[in-house]
Amino acid sequence: MADRALTEADALALDAADPLAPYRGRFLLPVAPDGSTAIYLAGHSLGLQPRSVRDAIDAELERWSRRGVDAWFEPDRPWFTCTERLREPMARIVGARPSEVAILNALTVNIHLLLASFFRPVGRRRRILVDGPLFPSDRHALTSHLVQRGLDPVRGLLVIEPRNGSPIVPTSDLEAAIREHGAELALVFLAGVNFATGQLHEIRRLTAAAHESGAMVGWDLAHAAGNVELSLHDWDVDFAAWCTYKYLNGGPGSVGAIFVHDRYGRDPSTPRLGGWWGVDPDRRFDMVDAFVPASGAAGWEASTPPVMALAPLATSLAIFDEVGMPALRAKSVELTGYLARLLDDLGIEAITPTEPAARGAQLSLRLRDAETVLAGLAARGVVADFRAPDIIRVAPVPLYNTYHEAWRFAHLLREVGA
Ligand SMILES: Cc1ncc(COP(=O)(O)O)c(C=O)c1O
Repeated sequence: MADRALTEADALALDAADPLAPYRGRFLLPVAPDGSTAIYLAGHSLGLQPRSVRDAIDAELERWSRRGVDAWFEPDRPWFTCTERLREPMARIVGARPSEVAILNALTVNIHLLLASFFRPVGRRRRILVDGPLFPSDRHALTSHLVQRGLDPVRGLLVIEPRNGSPIVPTSDLEAAIREHGAELALVFLAGVNFATGQLHEIRRLTAAAHESGAMVGWDLAHAAGNVELSLHDWDVDFAAWCTYKYLNGGPGSVGAIFVHDRYGRDPSTPRLGGWWGVDPDRRFDMVDAFVPASGAAGWEASTPPVMALAPLATSLAIFDEVGMPALRAKSVELTGYLARLLDDLGIEAITPTEPAARGAQLSLRLRDAETVLAGLAARGVVADFRAPDIIRVAPVPLYNTYHEAWRFAHLLREVGA
């Protein structure tokens, strides 16, 4: 298939041979304006609803109605351990020890909690280095911590932007910037997969570069978790945070997650913002004055977990456990590569790197009149999104998208004049 035009029959053959194809049936697929099944390519923004979600929520509603407060401690799946039960499956997704993962709050709030612990400006080390384009919420969070510590928010935030007309920031630029500014850096805070370009950064290499410069290193994995394989513990990452509503299919505004390396999580002297849910579960009801944090990332939990909101996430993580990240990523590389080849044949420019190791499922397409193209696609049942000024983002998600959808999408792009 390497050199000839790809046909619809090729796409159907690829789907027939796809070992993950049955998983599409485990999700509810949105509906197109004409009532047919939409081509949903927005899993980088909001993942689809697993069919099992409704039953999972119903089960919790049932417990609430039948047991009331006693459901917190009933022997079968007590609410009291509802976040604890998700740590192992989540740890498998990001390559962490279960003790290094906690499920709590939402992404920006978690970035705040982690900055409170790990942004430690001292002496000349007062700056935070980030990759551009920077997601606005991350900018707001980082800036507010600089301001809170009495630092200049403009000088304090060192954004390494793409240059020389390139849409992405190569690893070598980030390494060079870390080296150049190393003595001034308190923190390096990078995106695992950049929200705009879809670039997957070399997390191990950049973590090592940041450590060499003497800085702490944290990662925003919003677009990486459940998308690409990660080994946060082995890569020696200090901390990370991610949301669960994109590739992890936890539902709109679902509960976020964090990684704190055990060298900090198991050290009770690591500063953290306290709350009773961060206390060792056996001592949570002691009602004593001293905050003695639970060992591990769980010590960052502060409040009672939202039981209903966790039910969808639990069912989705069970699917990830069935499939496993290696199989998921293997299909993702194939499917995204297939779509990239179709788009290339159409002469459509993707600003996302072409090497599979430097991207996940997302392709960011630069198009003239992108908003009009997106409207035309939407009218034909394609769900994707727009980022100003000229980017349409699409993500063929290996759990529920097909090769045939990729093929149809490419042909619809041509139909709408892209
Ligand atoms: C890279 C990145 N950072 C932060 C956020 C904000 O997440 P939340 O609204 O859950 O705080 C998002 C949301 O899409 C994101 O993509």
